[in-house]
Amino acid sequence: MPDKPLLGQIREASPLISVGILTADLMSLGAELKLIETAGMKLLHVDVMDGCFCPMMTVGPGFIKALKTPLFKDIHLMIENPLDKLEGYVAAGADMITVHVESCRHIHRVLNKLGEFTNANDSHRGILRGIALNPGTPLEVITPLMDELEMVFLLAVNPGWGGQKFIPSTQGRLSRLRQMLGKVKKDILMGVDGGIKRDNIADVTRMDVDIIVTGSAVFDGKTPLENARFMISTVKDAAKKV
Ligand code: DX5
Ligand code: ZN
Repeated sequence: MPDKPLLGQIREASPLISVGILTADLMSLGAELKLIETAGMKLLHVDVMDGCFCPMMTVGPGFIKALKTPLFKDIHLMIENPLDKLEGYVAAGADMITVHVESCRHIHRVLNKLGEFTNANDSHRGILRGIALNPGTPLEVITPLMDELEMVFLLAVNPGWGGQKFIPSTQGRLSRLRQMLGKVKKDILMGVDGGIKRDNIADVTRMDVDIIVTGSAVFDGKTPLENARFMISTVKDAAKKV
């Protein structure tokens, strides 16, 4: 199993925000990216949707490859049967690839295959493997997969759109997941994705998460730099109280 220095880097810096880019002003994407780099963001979250696994269609490997940024590329695959498409996202420069347990006919095989790839940005960095669970999926699905993953994300919204409301039952699920992950020897990052805004990001941070995905609350079409700075400082302050 190739080493995963990126896991250590994220663990060291956690809790970290991963910024969803799909609500950025795509007509000035380079400038928008620069703003969140300036703010000090470290992770860039790209929601890949195929219109089959979830209602919307978004972007693919070509878009991801075109993103020139020092931020680590956190790719969220909301696509049916991703097994044969993994290589394209790896070649596009993914640092972290998260697949949905609900979209994989053979989830163990998908994670196992992902573990064989080398990071296209830096062959020593490793690629972090994540699974994402929809709000209605029991946490128990992760039990047989712990050896094949480095991250588990809980969706706090039903996949398909930015700008939705955080589903309250996610809090209980996060605390149960934290207990489950605490029982295994290896280090597995816990993430939450969707419905995280200015008014709840402090509370979400206190749910002891390692990666917090937020999109439309940063790229709100008005003040992304100020939003990003506010979110980073709020997470930092709230993390001290966990
Ligand atoms: C939902 C996506 C989320 C969402 C986050 O299907 O996986 O990443 O776009 O956007 P906000 O932060 O606007 O909920
Ligand atoms: Zn996402």
